[in-house]
Amino acid sequence: MSGPLVLGIESSCDETGVGIVRGHELLANEVASSVEQHVRFGGVVPEVASRAHLEAMVPTLQRACATADIDLAEIDAVAVTAGPGLMGALVVGLAAAKAVAFALDKPLYGVNHLAGHVAVDLLEHGPLPEPCAALLVSGGHTSLLLVDDVTSQITELGSTVDDAAGEAYDKVARVLGLPYPGGPYIDKAATGNPKLVAFPRGLTARKDLVDHRFDFSFSGLKTAVARWVEARQRDGEDVPVADVAASFQEAVCDVLSAKAMDACRATGASILLIGGGVAANSRLRALLAERAGESAVTLRTPRPALCTDNGAMIAVLGAEIVSRGGRPSRMDIGADSSLPVSRILV
Ligand code: KG4
Ligand code: ZN
Repeated sequence: MSGPLVLGIESSCDETGVGIVRGHELLANEVASSVEQHVRFGGVVPEVASRAHLEAMVPTLQRACATADIDLAEIDAVAVTAGPGLMGALVVGLAAAKAVAFALDKPLYGVNHLAGHVAVDLLEHGPLPEPCAALLVSGGHTSLLLVDDVTSQITELGSTVDDAAGEAYDKVARVLGLPYPGGPYIDKAATGNPKLVAFPRGLTARKDLVDHRFDFSFSGLKTAVARWVEARQRDGEDVPVADVAASFQEAVCDVLSAKAMDACRATGASILLIGGGVAANSRLRALLAERAGESAVTLRTPRPALCTDNGAMIAVLGAEIVSRGGRPSRMDIGADSSLPVSRILV
């Protein structure tokens, strides 16, 4: 295996990720999560996340070098998430990346977090057939993308107009009395009847498809679940958690997979890549596999540890940019909490 040896640093949300790759080869992927510190708040608290990044950054960096069995001085370049994400969290990763690049006199590449989620597939399945479509679903984002060149040309076809898919899972879990983060718990609890309640499928009505064909909305669904549960409780009845979880999950996964397939049809993409924490969902995977099979679309799913936020995805995106001759970033780049996916390299 060959290619540039690249260090990648990710700190956009609650995971401090440091990855090391050589070209498309994964050498280390160390992640320190502050999720435990957010449990009692039922969501990520930005200030808590920033402080946790500060504490975890150096030890995580050291672990990554030990795992990859390299000396930091051997790296060819440093890649770092410049956005989108939580401002205070992003600046910790950027400061660390700049310090390493400056001290070792190596080029710095400030990159887009969403493009990283797409690029991570290079580590799993090799060169990316472009163009391809990508569905990114996590606690922070829900986006449908058309990828013409993962290093320079990504178009956002649509995104959520309110809550992210993972956020809806986390909020509904709270309503059902399940722990945070709710996604995996709802996934496990959803053993009941998915047709018990016909929860709303946001932005799928004919009139919505005109302007929002590839956009998502989960806030109406979240409210519908809460109202349904409240009505049961008011009447003194038990809440059938397995059925409500299954019905909610069906509504989310039905919309995500239908719109992803529609995007493949509309763009002619024959490959659909999925990423983000919600990509670990068993029903989403099953429904996508079923519908992709019917549409002759090939589904590419990275292993769960590469689906959630990590430094390897940033490292491999950096390596790909270096290999394709991208220019390094200036040392004075700033973090951009709402960096659009069309800006892959800052
Ligand atoms: O990518 P991620 O680790 O972090 C960011 O939000 O960026 O995603 C976390 C989200 C949480 O909302 C969590 O509830 C959701 O992914 N999640 C799941 C599953 N595993 C994690 N949602 C549904 N089903 C799952 N199995
Ligand atoms: Zn992410």
